[in-house]
Amino acid sequence: MKDVRTAGQRKRVFIRTYGCQMNVYDSDRMADVLRPLGYALSDSPEQADLIVLNTCHIRERASEKVYSELGRLRDLKDERRRDGADLTIAVAGCVAQAEGEEIVRRQPAVDIVVGPQAYHRLPELLARAARKSAERHAGGRQPGAGVLDTEFPAESKFDHLPAPSEVRAGSAFLSIQEGCDKFCTFCVVPYTRGAEYSRPAESILREARTLVAAGAIELTLLGQNVNAYHGEAPDSSNVGPGAGSTWSLVGLISALAGIDGLVRIRYTTSHPRDMDDDLIAAHGEVPLLMPYLHLPVQSGSDRILEAMNRGHDRDHYRRLVDRLRGIQPDLALSSDFIVGFPGESDADFDDTMKLVGEIGFASAYTFKYSRRPGTPGAALGDQLAENIKTARLAALQSLLGKQQRDFNASKVGAIVPVLFAEAGRKPGQVLGKSPWLQSVYVEGGAEMVGNLVNVRLLAAYALSLAGEIVTNEPPFEVAA
Ligand code: SAH
Ligand code: SF4
Ligand code: F3S
Repeated sequence: MKDVRTAGQRKRVFIRTYGCQMNVYDSDRMADVLRPLGYALSDSPEQADLIVLNTCHIRERASEKVYSELGRLRDLKDERRRDGADLTIAVAGCVAQAEGEEIVRRQPAVDIVVGPQAYHRLPELLARAARKSAERHAGGRQPGAGVLDTEFPAESKFDHLPAPSEVRAGSAFLSIQEGCDKFCTFCVVPYTRGAEYSRPAESILREARTLVAAGAIELTLLGQNVNAYHGEAPDSSNVGPGAGSTWSLVGLISALAGIDGLVRIRYTTSHPRDMDDDLIAAHGEVPLLMPYLHLPVQSGSDRILEAMNRGHDRDHYRRLVDRLRGIQPDLALSSDFIVGFPGESDADFDDTMKLVGEIGFASAYTFKYSRRPGTPGAALGDQLAENIKTARLAALQSLLGKQQRDFNASKVGAIVPVLFAEAGRKPGQVLGKSPWLQSVYVEGGAEMVGNLVNVRLLAAYALSLAGEIVTNEPPFEVAA
């Protein structure tokens, strides 16, 4: 194929994203920041001039993966240099924030370390890294003097990042809240992402309109504590009754629901402490709000919930679920669980199994507790042996797996709108998401990607459902 890039666009960036959806969103924003500098996206490190690893620090294995990847990139960089070319390596995300200079010490091939709040300063960091590299070539410097920016600036990065420029497959993430003040004793997020911050509603609405105009029919609102959202209200800069007021997540969702062309709204991740009456009610009142809620409980033991500093007990969670289901009986509930938190006894773990049995989840993410340096949990005595964690994880996964299969099976026969996202694993298949965020595949072509189509669900499996397109039963919605 002929290379049609212009002279100013000859650079390529490869971005590898680890961790949560916040990082997926940020990676896209980094691509937007780099585009005006002439960087086009590359899908392989081998063809890139700049490689960004957008990292995750949440569990030990996630961070260690970064260093092994960096080892491979150093070899790639050495190869380039032997050929008289260069490669810039940047580490972004939560490992960058948590470990800072330590990254450059462990891997001197790294040129840039940039924390999650500083992505709008990437152009300046690249320029500084280029200067350092030139000095190094001139023999004036020792290798490994990377450029670092892990400040939490007074101004939010959202005020400086460019508007998103493209939407893939009809669905987009929209970051509305970042950081966390809850300090669960196992978790690094308050340290890597900083204090809780809610983006002003006006800037979110503007971005939402841009995304819908670019083809988004589904928006997923993101935040580490998304339901704690309390952003500045749009009219609060005016003198008047609204001055200085804030919007809750419900206020924001209601305003977003008025955007022409938007069909689905989701939000993640919620904390049980911030699930207020209005938000529960919204699940019965806002048709655009999908009947799916990711509401992590972590443990079913009151003793462990307390030790985790979650700020609620098992009954609080049960009551929330009862109320949510009272309002929206069709709700698919999902959660995160940690097994093997320090001091977790057999009885504590049984309480988790019991809670899962009582509630019934449509899907879940399960983790073995991972000791994270600097968190209060890491300093606790009674850290559990790996084999105990492994056995508990297996038991929990088996119960949750059965619940997921049962939930999927309960939908067989239903006709539901599916938003198609990508080609399926087998040729001639296309894969999408049901309202309950289940993966659904049908026979169909790539032209369906980005469209919302009514599908009859035919068969349920552990992690997906098979369906067929309904052609003769209205409403049959296909985006233009
Ligand atoms: N803000 C979200 C979760 C963010 S991290 C919330 O409050 O629920 C995503 C999940 O990773 C957590 O819900 C938790 O289950 C898991 N996790 C976080 N720290 C962990 C650790 N140290 N070990 C194991 N799992 C962890
Ligand atoms: Fe981590 Fe807890 Fe904050 Fe969630 S609420 S990000 S688990 S500290
Ligand atoms: Fe990981 Fe940071 Fe997200 S630690 S889970 S990438 S907030």
